[in-house]
Amino acid sequence: MTDIIKTIYNLPPRTVIRKFKQKLLDNSSHVFCLEDIVESPKYMRAQRGFDFLNRYQSILKKHLKWEELNFKGKHVLEIGSGPLLGWAPLSILMGCQSYTCVEPMFNPAVLDSDIIIEKYFLPLYKDINALYDSGISFKQFIDSLKKRVNFEKKELLEAQLSNSFDITLSNSCLEHIFQLYKNLDKLKSKSSLNNRFIHLVDLGNHRGTRNPFEGMYTMNPEAYYSKYGKNINLLRASDIQGLFDKAGFKTSMTLYYSFKDFYNEKISPYWFDRYKEEELFMKTVIITEQTKPKGP
Ligand SMILES: C[S@@+](CC[C@H](N)C(=O)[O-])C[C@H]1O[C@@H](n2cnc3c(N)ncnc32)[C@H](O)[C@@H]1O
Repeated sequence: MTDIIKTIYNLPPRTVIRKFKQKLLDNSSHVFCLEDIVESPKYMRAQRGFDFLNRYQSILKKHLKWEELNFKGKHVLEIGSGPLLGWAPLSILMGCQSYTCVEPMFNPAVLDSDIIIEKYFLPLYKDINALYDSGISFKQFIDSLKKRVNFEKKELLEAQLSNSFDITLSNSCLEHIFQLYKNLDKLKSKSSLNNRFIHLVDLGNHRGTRNPFEGMYTMNPEAYYSKYGKNINLLRASDIQGLFDKAGFKTSMTLYYSFKDFYNEKISPYWFDRYKEEELFMKTVIITEQTKPKGP
């Protein structure tokens, strides 16, 4: 409850009223709301997609013989792409053949919103063109987002996917999926033979606490869900990699970072019996196709 009060306290009154209305009218809470997107500095930061991908690939290159993803001519799938098409704009500008966004809360109105086009897609277009000359005009870019990106406003298990995808991606999505093995099994069946993939998994509590594991390890998962709701599946890094392996993927798991500072709670035997302490404090990991470690 304190988390909700903290969030409400930090929002402008106009936004609080809108959020209450969304809750009351139930149906509108199942899609991303345009006003929420436009008001979110996080979502509206045009460099966000490139920053993330670039950072992930820099970390991968630090540890593995990782070759940067090349989107040219590729069929790409992103799971949980969020409100603004995830890495689709970047991938379109880098010449992908098709891009499929599987996002149950997707709101197609984002592609017709003048403010989102001017404040998000235009700076993104300028920035990515500065890095990779796409050779397409801004109008062609927006048309391509409308015509060459397939939107599946569904969860992965329900999505109708025709292609065999060359590249599959997700950014902080897998930790929100509860039947993860079933989903990975489907993902595997839709992946091309030499499919490449990056899945960033955030293993923290998603509650903005100073230590990202606060409240997580003092109780078992059932007690955690009744206290905080069922937002994250509470699988740890080795569980997730194990499910990828079980689904037939060959993977490498790269630690992005661990974080134990400020943690001062007692860890319940439920967690200590199952995991080493080192794993309990892995905050973010990147799961990719199996890649040799960077050697001498
Ligand atoms: C934490 S958000 C991350 C959004 C985006 N990738 C980003 O980096 O901002 C997780 C997203 O996954 C989506 N999601 C949750 N379960 C899903 C599922 N089973 N299949 C596809 N997407 C899902 C949610 O709707 C949400 O947009």
